[in-house]
Amino acid sequence: MLLPIYSRPALTIDQGEGCYVWDTAGRRYLDFITGIGVNALGHCHPRITRVIQEQAARCLHTSNLYHHAYQAPLAERLTTWSGGLSRVFFGNSGGEAIEAALKAAKAYGTAHGSGKFQLVSIEGSFHGRTMGALSVTGQQKYRQPFQPLVPGVTFVPANRIDALRAAVTDDTAAIVVEVIQGENGIYPMSEEFLQEVRRLADFHDALWIADEIQCGLGRTGWRFAYQQFSGLLPDIVVTAKPLAAGIPLSAAILNEKAVAAIGKGQHGTTFGGGPLACRVALEVLDIIEELLPNIRETGAYLHERLVQLQGKFPLITEVRGIGMMAGIQLRALAHGVVNSAMEQGLLINCTHDTAIRLLPPFIATKADVDQAMETLTAVCVEMPAPAV
Ligand SMILES: Cc1ncc(COP(=O)(O)O)c(C=O)c1O
Repeated sequence: MLLPIYSRPALTIDQGEGCYVWDTAGRRYLDFITGIGVNALGHCHPRITRVIQEQAARCLHTSNLYHHAYQAPLAERLTTWSGGLSRVFFGNSGGEAIEAALKAAKAYGTAHGSGKFQLVSIEGSFHGRTMGALSVTGQQKYRQPFQPLVPGVTFVPANRIDALRAAVTDDTAAIVVEVIQGENGIYPMSEEFLQEVRRLADFHDALWIADEIQCGLGRTGWRFAYQQFSGLLPDIVVTAKPLAAGIPLSAAILNEKAVAAIGKGQHGTTFGGGPLACRVALEVLDIIEELLPNIRETGAYLHERLVQLQGKFPLITEVRGIGMMAGIQLRALAHGVVNSAMEQGLLINCTHDTAIRLLPPFIATKADVDQAMETLTAVCVEMPAPAV
């Protein structure tokens, strides 16, 4: 028996190809949630399948006792993508990469003054389920049963510059921010807010940790979401989800300042950054690079179509996001829409009670968007009219 922690619909996925998956009865679904953003290249991308097959026949695991051919080139590629960071730690999941970032921040704080261990995070954020990641997750429902967590964390409301200024002090080791909050219903931080995060981090000698686990690696049409805004560079960028197309892999990308206080043996992992995952990730980044124009163009079309949908149905109060990342705010509970969409062959999900999330694959075309909109329109027509 499994731990009863997931609520799943009666859908057993058997196989996938491109933007589609099939259930065990052979029914086809358009996949616009993509394993919560992991299957960003769609299912069974032929270039990824080939690389996995080749590497599986060559070497699956080396541990971090030795070098292999793909870790350093991948680190090099990620630092280039970051636009100025220089060091990489590889883990297996988003939560692990957040832990690495938090440990770097703690070590930095310890090296820069007594009492400099405070962390500032954002209300509504989600950073993972490990104890450190949970400690900076700004949603009480996830944190409550597991208290006491890591001490010294202050939460400020999203995009509230005054609250941010009041929270960050010389005792702050790091400010942790998702550039676009994913689990909170695709909720973007404003450019002004992010510029202030950068300014305050510099002023108080703290690190800015950007959690790009959901919004990074091309999803917005930019390599990283913070790159939409000129001159913004975090001290640590954390990435995971689509990095190795479903083979577990995450990365914390750091600047020299952030790693200076961490010595040999102070952090590590058995599985993280193995040859299979790193080789696949190199191929993934090549493919994402090629898909950036499509993400921007089809993403813009998706948002245009969603705004049209909002115009037709009072059920929808707001559409948020950019690129292949969209949140639809409803005036009613969202699970009815999600279930009905699934029955009609479209996979999406709700991030909380009244918000729907779409994370379409980067290979999606305008025709795929049209198909999703047709299904969503049919679903909205069926929904009881909300009290406005
Ligand atoms: C923004 C963000 N940070 C961290 C995590 C945690 O990642 P993982 O579930 O791989 O540990 C997630 C997962 O959804 C996420 O969306």
